Amino acid sequence: MIIVFGSINVDLVTKVARIPRPGETVTGDAYQRLPGGKGANQALAARRAGAEVRMLGAVGDDAFAEPALVNLREAGVDLSSVRRTDRPTGVAFIVVDAEGRNAITVAAGANTAVEATAVERLDLGAQDILLLQREIPDAAGESAARSAKAAGARVVLNFAPSGVIPDSYLALVDILILNEHEAADLVSALAIDTGSHAALADALQIRFGTDVVVTLGAAGAVGWSNGIEHRTAALPVNVVDTTGAGDTFVGIFTAALAEGTSFGDALRRGSIAGSLACTCSGAQAGIPTRRAIDAAMNEHPHRG
Ligand code: RIB
Ligand code: NA
Repeated sequence: MIIVFGSINVDLVTKVARIPRPGETVTGDAYQRLPGGKGANQALAARRAGAEVRMLGAVGDDAFAEPALVNLREAGVDLSSVRRTDRPTGVAFIVVDAEGRNAITVAAGANTAVEATAVERLDLGAQDILLLQREIPDAAGESAARSAKAAGARVVLNFAPSGVIPDSYLALVDILILNEHEAADLVSALAIDTGSHAALADALQIRFGTDVVVTLGAAGAVGWSNGIEHRTAALPVNVVDTTGAGDTFVGIFTAALAEGTSFGDALRRGSIAGSLACTCSGAQAGIPTRRAIDAAMNEHPHRG
């Protein structure tokens, strides 16, 4: 089983010609209210890949709680560990520009009130994976990671959104997934000389015993497992909205690992799924099904 401990949001999305600078107003047309949150998006992606998924997190006792959860519920993600709190359901304010790029501001609300103790109550074992991101407090994520490790489960952490992270947290992570910006941030936080992704992966393996994946947008992804490098291309797609593409990669990659797929093949499935996710607007609508990923993989033989 995959246990996703993370954020659940409602996304309020507006399309604009370009992303505003500080102090500037740009005007879009209508807005869309869509389910989102990095944790929820990744849970849905893993579920669409065919995994059994349980979501741990918190929403408010308000009108946004159900709209935030609707896709997870319909997909059959176990929501019995999602708490209702007196803080408002998390909201992400998202603008998407004409090239499909976005800028996101999150009002975390209920996501700050999550409880790691729920992880202790699960009967986890070696076949389970705890999947974390950083839209919940790191202290909660770290404490959940500690319980999962103690139970023999694997821990996958998506570094997003970036920020200083305690060494004690990194030490509990089996696989760390970052995008290029987050990788650059971590390179400077850890004072790694050359700044290359390979040097970052080396340092993380030596200091924390952590495998690393860096997602490279249109250039695919690169990963290091036990010091061995794996590379995969992305699919050439018509980009409509990149929101949720990273989450799709993370969820699909983790689901593949959970069913015993090799690191390199999981990287490729994640990368193809992330590309497909960019062809639809919204964080969750574009998350492909297992069949869609298989079809795309057959159409595009490996180009390494
Ligand atoms: O990664 C995309 C997600 O980030 C959006 O769904 C939004 O909720 C923000 O959390
Ligand atoms: Na998308």
